[in-house]
Amino acid sequence: MPAAVVTGTQWGDEGKGKIVDLLAADADVVVRFHGGNNAGHTLVVDGQKTVLNLVPAGVLHPGRICVMGPGMVIDPEVLVGEIDALRRRGYLGDDRWLRISEQAHLIMPYHRAIDRARERLRGPGNIGTTGRGIGPAYEDKMARTGIRVGDLFDEGGFRDALERNLREKNAYLQALLGEPALSFDDIHERYRGYRERLRPFAADTTAELRAAFAAGRRVLFEGAQGALLDVDHGTYPFVTSSSTLAGAASAGAGVPPRAIGRVVGIAKAYTTRVGSGPFPSELADALGDRLRADGDEYGATTGRPRRCGWFDAVVVRHAIALSGVDGLALTKLDVLTGIDPLRVCVAYELDGKRREFPPGTQGAWERVRPVYEELPGWRENLGAARALTDLPPDARRYVDRLSALVGAPVMLLSIGPQREQTIRLVDIF
Ligand code: IMP
Repeated sequence: MPAAVVTGTQWGDEGKGKIVDLLAADADVVVRFHGGNNAGHTLVVDGQKTVLNLVPAGVLHPGRICVMGPGMVIDPEVLVGEIDALRRRGYLGDDRWLRISEQAHLIMPYHRAIDRARERLRGPGNIGTTGRGIGPAYEDKMARTGIRVGDLFDEGGFRDALERNLREKNAYLQALLGEPALSFDDIHERYRGYRERLRPFAADTTAELRAAFAAGRRVLFEGAQGALLDVDHGTYPFVTSSSTLAGAASAGAGVPPRAIGRVVGIAKAYTTRVGSGPFPSELADALGDRLRADGDEYGATTGRPRRCGWFDAVVVRHAIALSGVDGLALTKLDVLTGIDPLRVCVAYELDGKRREFPPGTQGAWERVRPVYEELPGWRENLGAARALTDLPPDARRYVDRLSALVGAPVMLLSIGPQREQTIRLVDIF
């Protein structure tokens, strides 16, 4: 199977980074295809923590080609910082290991300013965005006024586009959002600097990926966020601004759908979400606090505390159906040690009727009530398990029950942050 996609099945933060890092050992190319530095992965290798926001998680394996595809929105300031930080740690030893699509859109300072000002003005009803300018950058892309990585290398074209956009954005920022205007000279100067820094990596990644496929290379597509943050199928409007499903890999990277042989869904053994929006199985109590503390549930990008709750089989079932998930990588099972009994949301109740799948409208999402099933917990520490048979019987029962409820086999089980703390049941490639 030459290509696989890894996709989040909840509200993001499922532990995709660790799984992509693991699977990247068997891949030649690792590709991100949507989103930007709203994503954040914390990777622990040999006890050393690395946080990645933009560069694919394959970068910790020397020699892997890491591709940032056309569907991404890239903040060059953050990317340059990330490249420097990786280099300081001895990664990215060769410029050819990072390829940045000329077609990817640039996040500009006005995107960040607009994102943050709008959130502030929305007050308590805000989306809880990461404030990284993701939404406004995708808006410009769809409005066909965005500036792309390739435009950096056309000085005249870049200057014209920046002048045109800034005129409009400054009027909007000042008149409607009550923000100060941004300086053309300042942005122009900074982006000229990024142009030189990014030049060695800018590429026609679509053509390069086509060549990689033709040569039989193993390609891993790294999804960001999760299915319930998908702009069409998630808990709209409390979603991100891109398509987060496995299918987005095809459009966002520029490969045919049939090129992708396997879909791996990542699910945490409980549920978390950052930002606002519906979360039927949320635990707004001491148990939720305990999950946050034991699972270190703080956003890798913004440091915000994550909301925590029971595993929601309705959400994961939905994600599996949307993305055609072949199997699950179940993460953070170890965090549930000591909680007894455990509960799992098996269905929703909406207006007196039971549903196996979530509703489609915001109003209905707010009215659903979780239907729970109780399972016995376990007391043993799981961190040293290396095979299913090392797990206590109640932990195995929990895993088997989740798998049956969502209708997908478990391919991989993660029981701690280290690479070794993983039980692999199936080879992905
Ligand atoms: P945005 O993507 O910054 O516009 O944020 C929109 C929503 O998606 C907010 O609720 C964010 O907290 C959430 N979000 C965006 N990226 C991630 C992620 O990588 N993990 C978890 N939540 C995310």
